[in-house]
Amino acid sequence: MEKRYSFAGSILSADLLRLGDDVGEALKAGIDIIHFDVMDYHFVPNLTFGPMFLKALHQRYPEAVFDVHLMVSPVTEEIVDAYAGAGAGMISFHPEACVHCDRMLSHIRELGVQAGLVLNPGTPPQMLRYLWDKLDFVLVMTVNPGFGGQKLIPAALQKVADIRRMAAEANVRPAIEVDGGVDAQTVGQCARAGANIFVVGSAFFGKADRPAALSALLAGLVSPVKEA
Ligand code: DX5
Ligand code: ZN
Repeated sequence: MEKRYSFAGSILSADLLRLGDDVGEALKAGIDIIHFDVMDYHFVPNLTFGPMFLKALHQRYPEAVFDVHLMVSPVTEEIVDAYAGAGAGMISFHPEACVHCDRMLSHIRELGVQAGLVLNPGTPPQMLRYLWDKLDFVLVMTVNPGFGGQKLIPAALQKVADIRRMAAEANVRPAIEVDGGVDAQTVGQCARAGANIFVVGSAFFGKADRPAALSALLAGLVSPVKEA
């Protein structure tokens, strides 16, 4: 049976000097997806991992699903091809950084990779209406991209609910992934809004005891509603 919820561990918060072992530990603990944040010092004020890092991780863990979140501008087929060739199972990009979103989504799928669009906190979701047949998932930023360890922006959860409703109206069920500030306290709200993939950086890799961190997240997912 397909799992209802998945956790995507963001390596941004991993111990970079033992990245390979950290990823192995995450997979062993039950993390479903490895979230791979690509930043270019242009789209966001930070710089991270090139395709060589992904290739090395994929070679060590060929069964793992690597979720490449491109925070680069412009998004080009060359960049997408490089990460697909290095082992990405999912690739998403921000529409602000791409002139031809429809074409780029199709290109990602043609490479045999799941395609997603990423919406910043201030980006409206309306364009999704015209792209459902090209999209495998929508990544909703619940913080402004660029750094781990920020606080979730509550208005972004309203957007998750809006996207879930828009998808239901169009009779489609894309995965909705939330990214930023997801922890044991906020994961339940994200799920109730309609998200089913949760990116966890500081709430997972940032903790010394990773199995305990995942247990706390799972407990937060099913805990009774206690909204303020
Ligand atoms: C932020 C990145 C996130 C980040 C999340 O730009 O896209 O994936 O690692 O980190 P946390 O979970 O700590 O908010
Ligand atoms: Zn991310």
